[in-house]
Amino acid sequence: MDKKVSELLNDQINKELYSAYLYLDMANFYTGKGLDGFANWYEIQAKEEQDHALLIYQYMHNNGEKVTLEAVAKPDKEFNALMDPLTAGLEHEKYVTSLINNIYAAAQEAKDFRTTQFLDWFIKEQGEEEKNSQDLITKMELFGNDPKSLYMLNSELSSRVYSAPSLVL
Ligand code: FEO
Repeated sequence: MDKKVSELLNDQINKELYSAYLYLDMANFYTGKGLDGFANWYEIQAKEEQDHALLIYQYMHNNGEKVTLEAVAKPDKEFNALMDPLTAGLEHEKYVTSLINNIYAAAQEAKDFRTTQFLDWFIKEQGEEEKNSQDLITKMELFGNDPKSLYMLNSELSSRVYSAPSLVL
């Protein structure tokens, strides 16, 4: 594998684990606020990020690449208002999209089409991640200020269930 592509993929494992940690911190914030549905939504989000890390980890090993696991940074976002994790989540997903695009571009430049094909799933997933984050913000803007509506929204988010990623390596 091209050295730069391999390094970027290795780094992305760390970025995905950080994402998991960041989302767990959001779940942590909502649990503290008594909003178990929001917490559930972000706990599942954290699991999905772990899956993303493991998919890249597995892909690297399947291709004979060495994986180096680095320290995962402390979640560094500060949350005060109920809206804060939602906007931070969207901002973070846009950042992750830029990282995935960057790896994709490097793989394309190296004519590593196996990796571009592998990343196709992530490109699509990022589209969904950004949409989900935006949808949550929209709902919160519409209903977040009314306690009864917030209760309903919290109930809706408590129904989210985890499902394993659709990508099979
Ligand atoms: Fe792994 Fe939310 O992107």
